[in-house]
Amino acid sequence: MATMESLIGLINKIQRACTVLGDHGGEGMSLWEALPSVAVVGGQSSGKSSVLESVVGRDFLPRGSGIVTRRPLVLQLHKTESGSEYAEFLHAPKKRFSDFAAVRKEIADETDRITGKTKQISNIPIHLSIYSPHVVNLTLIDLPGLTKVAVEGQPDSIVEDIENMVRSYVEKPNCIILAISPANQDIATSDAIKLAREVDPSGERTFGVLTKLDLMDKGTNAQDVLEGRAYRLQHPWVGIVNRSQADINKNVDMIVARRKEREYFETSPDYGHLASRMGSEYLAKLLSQHLELVIRQRIPSIIALINKNIDELNAELDRIGRPIAADGGAQLYMILELCRAFDRVFKEHLD
Ligand code: GDP
Ligand code: NA
Ligand code: MG
Repeated sequence: MATMESLIGLINKIQRACTVLGDHGGEGMSLWEALPSVAVVGGQSSGKSSVLESVVGRDFLPRGSGIVTRRPLVLQLHKTESGSEYAEFLHAPKKRFSDFAAVRKEIADETDRITGKTKQISNIPIHLSIYSPHVVNLTLIDLPGLTKVAVEGQPDSIVEDIENMVRSYVEKPNCIILAISPANQDIATSDAIKLAREVDPSGERTFGVLTKLDLMDKGTNAQDVLEGRAYRLQHPWVGIVNRSQADINKNVDMIVARRKEREYFETSPDYGHLASRMGSEYLAKLLSQHLELVIRQRIPSIIALINKNIDELNAELDRIGRPIAADGGAQLYMILELCRAFDRVFKEHLD
């Protein structure tokens, strides 16, 4: 019997195939939009890229103070049965990266390729896939941070441009929102919560994440937020301690960072009683559980959409003629095969 894991894996493959080809949903909801993804929303330097890295469990994203993330990064995690980990970019499909420091550099270089070495942003996403036995099947989207004012070298419109870009991702009903707020700022001023509330008023697809717990003023704590009293969300808040800039400068690795984070919660007088529901690993688990639930609920509409796609793809293949020589045809065929596989796996899953 097929597992939910393999189902999510197939969905990932179909999403990727759609990305390669340009979407094939036709009118109405596209396949891409029917499938869930997870996006981070928050103010600049609130810890968005750091949280995504922790969820993945690998160091590969550019992080730091100021506007570092300047293009959307659509990151697909593919769980493999075994073997070594590697990454691939859509813009360089023949190149396999096994060194994650090189992945980070490529993201930075590819960002500059479009925007120049400026503080400008671009709507054009970078697509990255990571293949590893140690990840859960997920699509994650890293986004530029919301800001209040344009800085030197940025157009005045940047505040609105970023907000519109971020909104275009998180307003989609399939988008699960990681709303990132730093604990050393008042939650009432959180841009993440503000935007999340706007696009998801019921809070059913919003996860509140509170970073920088280690940076709060002495004598204060975030129990009010973490226990849901300050701002109530449908899902429980998760507190996080990411690496500090000093840790990043010292190249503190992920395993050490996770251990330190765990110790932080377990030994904290303020959060010890919440320790089992705090931290990056817990957040990753929470997310994949939620994703499973969403996919279960969506299966009927996904199947309907896939069947429609199978018909459309068949018609398209008839039109361009088979067998297929051209690249586009081969990709169409691949999507068709993936859709068929999905249908098969889904039916097994129901049995
Ligand atoms: P982004 O701009 O929202 O993507 O934030 P980054 O992940 O790039 O982080 C911005 C800066 O804040 C970096 O210097 C991080 O080291 C630091 N940072 C993020 N989260 C934490 C945290 O939980 N604790 C501490 N001490 N620093 C953090
Ligand atoms: Na930053
Ligand atoms: Mg970032």
